[in-house]
Amino acid sequence: IKGRNQCFVVLCIPHIHAVWACVRSCPANCVCTQERSCSVLCDRAGLLQIPSNFPCEASSINLDKNSIKFVSERAFGTLPSLKSLSLQHNNISFITPGAFKGLPRLTELKMAHNEYIRYLHTRTFTALKRLVRLDLADCNLFNIPDRIFIELPALQELFCFQNNFRRIPGAIRGMENLTHVYLERNKIEAVAYNSLQGLTRLKYLNLQDNRINVIHDHAFQDCQKMEYLYLNDNLLNDLPENSFDGLRHLKMLSLGGNFLRNVSKTWFRDLVELEVLYLDRNRVNYIEEGAFENLTSLVSLHLNSNNLTTLPFSVFRPVYFLGRLYLFRNPWECDCRLKWLKEWMENYRLVRDILCVSPSSVAGIDLADVLFDRSPEGYCLDPVEFNVTFYSPTPTEEPHSTTESKFSSLISKLLLQEGLPEEVANTTEALTNTTLLDRLGDEVSSGVGEYAISCSFHLLALITAQAVMVLQSK
Ligand SMILES: *[C@@H]1O[C@H](CO)[C@@H](O)[C@H](O)[C@H]1NC(C)=O
Ligand SMILES: *[C@@H]1O[C@H](CO)[C@@H](O)[C@H](O)[C@H]1NC(C)=O
Ligand SMILES: *[C@@H]1O[C@H](CO)[C@@H](O)[C@H](O)[C@H]1NC(C)=O
Ligand SMILES: *[C@@H]1O[C@H](CO)[C@@H](O)[C@H](O)[C@H]1NC(C)=O
Ligand SMILES: *[C@@H]1O[C@H](CO)[C@@H](O)[C@H](O)[C@H]1NC(C)=O
Ligand SMILES: *[C@@H]1O[C@H](CO)[C@@H](O)[C@H](O)[C@H]1NC(C)=O
Ligand SMILES: *[C@@H]1O[C@H](CO)[C@@H](O)[C@H](O)[C@H]1NC(C)=O
Ligand SMILES: *[C@@H]1O[C@H](CO)[C@@H](O)[C@H](O)[C@H]1NC(C)=O
Repeated sequence: IKGRNQCFVVLCIPHIHAVWACVRSCPANCVCTQERSCSVLCDRAGLLQIPSNFPCEASSINLDKNSIKFVSERAFGTLPSLKSLSLQHNNISFITPGAFKGLPRLTELKMAHNEYIRYLHTRTFTALKRLVRLDLADCNLFNIPDRIFIELPALQELFCFQNNFRRIPGAIRGMENLTHVYLERNKIEAVAYNSLQGLTRLKYLNLQDNRINVIHDHAFQDCQKMEYLYLNDNLLNDLPENSFDGLRHLKMLSLGGNFLRNVSKTWFRDLVELEVLYLDRNRVNYIEEGAFENLTSLVSLHLNSNNLTTLPFSVFRPVYFLGRLYLFRNPWECDCRLKWLKEWMENYRLVRDILCVSPSSVAGIDLADVLFDRSPEGYCLDPVEFNVTFYSPTPTEEPHSTTESKFSSLISKLLLQEGLPEEVANTTEALTNTTLLDRLGDEVSSGVGEYAISCSFHLLALITAQAVMVLQSK
C-alpha cells in the first residue's frame, strides 16, 4: 500500500483525485469503473488498435473481443498500477519486442485466442518482473524461444494449450517458480529426460491430447511436488520402470486413452498419496501383481475400456480401495478366477457393470448374476462353454468320465440353471433330476460355505479398517 501511494504521488496525481482521473481519461468506447481499483473495460468495443491513453491508475484493462492486430513497443505507456491485462480474442499478428514495458506491476497477461500470433520474439515479455500468470492458449504457436521467459522470474502459471508445439518448450526449463503448466491439445511427441528439468515447484502439468509416444527415464524426477499429472489421450504403449518415482505428492494421474498393455508393478510404487488413477481406454491385458500395492491413498481406479479378461485378487492385495473400481467394457471371462470380484460387488458395491464375454454359458450376463458352484470337494466350478463335448451325441466323447475339469464343467452346468438364458435351461433340463444334484446340493449347503464366509469377513475387516483410516485423514 505504501509503495502504491508513493507511486501515485510521484507519477500521477494525489490519491484523492485518482478516481476522478480514471473516469476523466477513460478511452473512447470504454467504460471505466469508479471503484477503488480502476478497471478499464474496452471489450467488444470494435477497436482496431490499442487506445493511446489509459488512466494512469488503471489496475485492470480488458480489451477482449476486438480486432486489434498489432501491439507496438510500450503500447500501454506507463501504467504503474496495472495488474491485469487481457487481449483475448483479437486478431493480433505481431507483438513488438518490449510491447509491455512500463507495466512493472503486471501480474496477469492474457492473450489467448489470437490465432495469427504464431511467433513470439525473445524479448516480447521483457520487463514483466512480477508476471505470475501468462495465457497464450490457442495462438497457433509452433514454438517459443528458449529464453523468452528469462526475465519473468515470478511466473507461476503458464497456459499454452491448443497450440502447435511438437516439443515441450525449452523455455520452461529451470523455471523454479512455475506451479501450473497447461500444454494440452498440442502435438508434443515426447517427455524427454530434461523437458521438465528444474521445475521443482510444479504441482499441475497437463499434457493430455498430444502425440506423446515416449517418456524418457526419470523425466519427472525434478517435479517432486507434482499433484496433478495428465498424460491421457496420447500414444503411449509403454512407460519406463521408474516413470513416476519420487512423486510422493501426486494425487491424480491420468494415463487413460493410450495404448498401454501391461501395467508394471514398478510404475506406481512411490505414489503413496495418489487418490485417483486413470488407466481407462488402453489395451491393458495384464496387471503385474503388486502394481497397486503401495497406493495406500487410492480412492478410485479406472480400468474400464481395456482388454482385461481376468483380474487376480492378488493384484488388489492389500485391499485399499474405498470409492470406486471402474471395470466396465472389458472382455471379462467370468470363471472362478473372478469369483472374489463378484463377492466384492455384492458386499461393498464398489464395482458394477462387469459384463461377461465368456464362458459362453454366461456371455452377456453381468458378473453379479453369475452363479458359481462347487464340486463335492469344495472347489469353485467354472461356468461351462456350450461347445464342450457335452452336446455330442457320440458316446465315445462322453465328457464326465475323463478329466476333472470336464467333470467340473458338467456339474457346474447342472447347478447353473437358475439365472441362465433359456437355451441353457432347456439343454440341462433332462439332467436336473439326478441324485448327483441332490447330493451336491447338500454338501454345498453344509461345510463348504464356511470358507467363503470367513473370507468375506476378512475382506470386510480390511476394507472397514481402510475406510476408517481414510475418514480420519480427511
Ligand atoms: C486477421 O488477420 C489476418 C492476417 O493478419 C487476416 O488475414 C484476417 O483477415 C484478419 N481477420 C479479421 C477478422 O480481421
Ligand atoms: C522465484 O521467485 C522468487 C520470489 O519471487 C525469486 O526470488 C526467485 O528469483 C524466483 N526464481 C527464479 C528462478 O526466477
Ligand atoms: C506383457 O505381459 C505378458 C504376460 O505376462 C508378457 O508375455 C509380455 O511379454 C509383456 N509385454 C511387455 C511389453 O512387457
Ligand atoms: C512399496 O514401497 C516399499 C517401500 O517404499 C518398497 O520397498 C516396495 O518395493 C514397494 N512395492 C512395490 C511393488 O514396488
Ligand atoms: C487383447 O488381448 C488378447 C489376448 O488376450 C489379444 O489377442 C488381443 O490382440 C488384444 N486386443 C487388443 C486390442 O490389444
Ligand atoms: C469348441 O471350442 C473349441 C475351442 O474352445 C473350438 O476349437 C471348436 O471349434 C469349438 N467347436 C464348436 C462346434 O464350436
Ligand atoms: C426353451 O424351452 C421353452 C419352453 O420349454 C421354449 O419356449 C424355448 O423356445 C426353448 N428355447 C430354446 C433355445 O430351445
Ligand atoms: C424326477 O424323478 C421323479 C422321481 O424320482 C420322477 O417322478 C420324475 O418323473 C422325474 N422327472 C424327470 C424330468 O425325469
